[in-house]
Amino acid sequence: MGSHDDGHVERVVKLAVYIAEREGADVEVVRTSAELHDIARDKPNHAIESARIAGEILRRKGYDEDFISKVVHCIESHSFSSNVKPKTLEAKVLSDADKLDAIGAIGVARVFMFSGERGRSIEDTLKHFEEKLLKLKDMLYTKTAREIARNRHEFLKMFYDRLRKELEFYEQDC
Ligand code: NI
Repeated sequence: MGSHDDGHVERVVKLAVYIAEREGADVEVVRTSAELHDIARDKPNHAIESARIAGEILRRKGYDEDFISKVVHCIESHSFSSNVKPKTLEAKVLSDADKLDAIGAIGVARVFMFSGERGRSIEDTLKHFEEKLLKLKDMLYTKTAREIARNRHEFLKMFYDRLRKELEFYEQDC
């Protein structure tokens, strides 16, 4: 799907490595986790399922169990829907990188791609801004991610306000 395509994964890898380097996290754990974090994107509870498949892939490639368990934890905790909270710095970095790709101009582009895939209306997409996207900046764990988020959130809010204003025009009685 377009909103969770290879472009998303590539951006999350770059963001995650960038944050990891500045926060002193294990870059290899973070990079590997980011590369595999959405591998089961289409499955229900994709974080848990992606973590399981990532573990299998890394085991087959001969990675050691300690490295694998670190990666598995990052992936299973990267999405709020899995109900697993990030316990390590590396898991927090992946969670932050994934969330940053949902705000700013890219976030706007992705949410409308996603709405297109699901046949969701502009009005319902606006609700998704309120319920999720506008809250993401307060759900970040690292200082580096919060710094990147400031600008992106500002643009997201500006776009949201403008879109809402334009839609309100059509709600008036003529
Ligand atoms: Ni993702």
